[in-house]
Amino acid sequence: MNQDQLKQMVGEAARDEVLKLPTGQILGVGTGSTVNYFIDALAGHKDHFAGTVSSSNATTERLLKHGFKVLDPNDVVSLPAYVDGADEIDPAGHMMKGGGGALTREKIIASMAKQFICICDSSKQVPVLGNFALPVEIIPLAKGIVTRELEKLGGKVSLRLAKTTRADLNQTPSAAFVTDNGAWILDVAGLQITDPITMEAQIDQIAGVITVGLFAKEKANILLVSNASGVDRIVL
Ligand code: 5RP
Repeated sequence: MNQDQLKQMVGEAARDEVLKLPTGQILGVGTGSTVNYFIDALAGHKDHFAGTVSSSNATTERLLKHGFKVLDPNDVVSLPAYVDGADEIDPAGHMMKGGGGALTREKIIASMAKQFICICDSSKQVPVLGNFALPVEIIPLAKGIVTRELEKLGGKVSLRLAKTTRADLNQTPSAAFVTDNGAWILDVAGLQITDPITMEAQIDQIAGVITVGLFAKEKANILLVSNASGVDRIVL
């Protein structure tokens, strides 16, 4: 079974999970390739929900294409559940997120939800977070100072670059990846995050940081994780 099949399988399991919610509720929807499978699987059941709240422009586009109603988060008081993927998840349910660059809106929507349902394949389960470079969304003019502060934590910091074509590479220097919020992302490699709650708070306090991609204070409540033999449901 390849990774796309594993993502599809867990996307379908997440559909079955959210269909246990009473009808007429609003659902929070994350971002990424695993979530895309979830959205596609849920499309045939869109009338189960009064609407959705989306964590990125890409997710909004996909939800609208399938005919889901997408609401402004400001018009929603609370959500019963938020479904999203992760780049890494530890045994306690602390997550590293932001590989797709949507971390800030993901954290906002997740904070509105009663339950965070994390969906991933088993390659994302790690004993300690940090193999994946930690994404940190920043105000562009703070790149220098935030980089220096993050280096003090022992990581190797790099500015995330936009995906460029071969022609672009020949002609222009690579440009920064720009988030849906008009901000930049620093990726911090080489951290061993043994205390994610403390590190989340520490990085959040650096002036110029918008959001750190550690989801530790508010972690996953339910983990659906696919492997070759099926999908495990873990309550955290
Ligand atoms: C986007 C995210 C994604 O949830 C994370 O990158 C996992 O993505 P995928 O399902 O494509 O592996 O945090 O900002």
